Amino acid sequence: MSQDPFAELKKRQREMWASFAPTAMFTTPVAGHLVKFAQIGAGETVLDVGTGTGVVAITAARGGARVTALDLTPELLEQARENSRIAQREDIVWTEGDAEQLPYPDASFDVVLSQFGHMFAPRPEIAIAEMHRVLKPNGRIAFATWPPEHVVGRMFAFVGRNSPPPPAGASLPPQWGNPAIITERLGALFDAPFFERGTMAFPALSIEHYRLFMERSVGPMQKLFESLAAEPQKLGVLRAEFDALAAPYYFDNVVHQDYLLTRAQAR
Ligand SMILES: C[S@@+](CC[C@H](N)C(=O)[O-])C[C@H]1O[C@@H](n2cnc3c(N)ncnc32)[C@H](O)[C@@H]1O
Repeated sequence: MSQDPFAELKKRQREMWASFAPTAMFTTPVAGHLVKFAQIGAGETVLDVGTGTGVVAITAARGGARVTALDLTPELLEQARENSRIAQREDIVWTEGDAEQLPYPDASFDVVLSQFGHMFAPRPEIAIAEMHRVLKPNGRIAFATWPPEHVVGRMFAFVGRNSPPPPAGASLPPQWGNPAIITERLGALFDAPFFERGTMAFPALSIEHYRLFMERSVGPMQKLFESLAAEPQKLGVLRAEFDALAAPYYFDNVVHQDYLLTRAQAR
């Protein structure tokens, strides 16, 4: 990764996501939706990019797929291994690595999945070319992303406008939640994509509980709030801004986080 102009960003990402494991409680149902939407058959070879604690990988393996999973963050892969032991799916191959440099030969997989994972790679064209390269001819890609107009996309915009700018040339993750941009990015490598939407339920006793969870377990939010530890007044202002941002999505004791699913066949 030494030639990679985004090596420093990826190092920060690796540190930032290390506390993510408790959030997998909420991404687990989305994994069920994504695996079903990807129409994975028993015996198919599947790669899960940005697997985190392995929720998508283990769901696909339980359905009979032969699964390999990759993530930048070793702490999460450790948890993923533990999850696969509990689920009795120890045949999954776990790899530490980067979505922009997949350590697999060409044409290795029938399906490449990513749930809120590849969207964090800074160069979409490289991530998508890599995901296409490792697909067999006519293989499928399917992924879940956060649209910019819903609560998580707005949270990323909030983090972005209150943090130092990303390195030049890095794309913004919620762009992956825009169907027009996705269609353009899949472009010449895939047939026209299919889309579906869903809502990730995030139970919370109050908006403050939701924010506190985010501050502790969702890397970009955690980094932002940690950086303000010595500025209590600014911290208070930003907490209030975040609470106002999330409030419209909070009802019935749940923060409703809308996501987008995309599926496309490789050319
Ligand atoms: C929001 S978490 C999602 C984890 C899991 N897929 C889930 O749904 O619970 C984002 C994951 O992407 C990983 N990630 C970020 N950038 C990556 C990259 N360039 N290559 C591989 N994984 C990456 C992080 O380490 C983290 O595990």
